[in-house]
Amino acid sequence: MIFESHAHYDDEQFNEDRDSLLKELLNGNICNIINIGASIESTKSSIALAEQYPQIYAAVGVHPSDAGELNEQSFAWLREQTTHPKVVSVGEIGLDYYWEKEPDVQKTQRYWFARQMELAKEARLPVVIHSREAAEDTVRVMKSVHAEEIPGVVHCYSYSPELAQEFLKMGYYIGVGGVVTFKNARKLKETVEQVPLEKILLETDAPYLAPEPYRGKRNCSRYLGYVAEEIARLKQVSAEEVEDVTRKNAQKLFQI
Ligand code: NI
Repeated sequence: MIFESHAHYDDEQFNEDRDSLLKELLNGNICNIINIGASIESTKSSIALAEQYPQIYAAVGVHPSDAGELNEQSFAWLREQTTHPKVVSVGEIGLDYYWEKEPDVQKTQRYWFARQMELAKEARLPVVIHSREAAEDTVRVMKSVHAEEIPGVVHCYSYSPELAQEFLKMGYYIGVGGVVTFKNARKLKETVEQVPLEKILLETDAPYLAPEPYRGKRNCSRYLGYVAEEIARLKQVSAEEVEDVTRKNAQKLFQI
């Protein structure tokens, strides 16, 4: 059984077949799904999905690209959601300098990243971190809020094997998805070789980032088998072991 640690099934790309697809996945090889909030709106819809399906849990948080919608009022609302029984994480939160080049807006991202990290600490929940082209500042913000006291995962890991060691030192898991199956993903393959299997989580980021041979298509948790197979090849273990160990990792992190 596979634990899907990061998906967005509230996305409109699933509007036509969401219920039948989720039932098929959850009656099949997928034991649990964390549906990830990325805005106030998708935090609401993630909680709604978690209320509807026993095996789905929600992460609540605002993605750096939407950090502009946070203010004290919406942040107070977010804080209330952390006490919901199906909410197991704060995320996805972080920094994205790939999509945002404006220094003032990047500063806003850092501010709300730190505030949401502190919210997770206060709520005793793990975090799901999104970080793209902002490695140095991500580590700096994490150190400023004593991230080693806040468990979490760096999702869709895209940095070097060396930097992965920094995150491991702070106790973080490394989220690995479809990108690891791409031929040109040399850095990520090296990272997977170096990170202990006990610190890796399987994730899709569905509907995005489908693995080979579905690259470019709508992604879903059914394709996590391809991700497990590639990790197994890199680490010279069986795909079953990858599924088992990463499932236990996610159960431990999200306390499910
Ligand atoms: Ni995501």
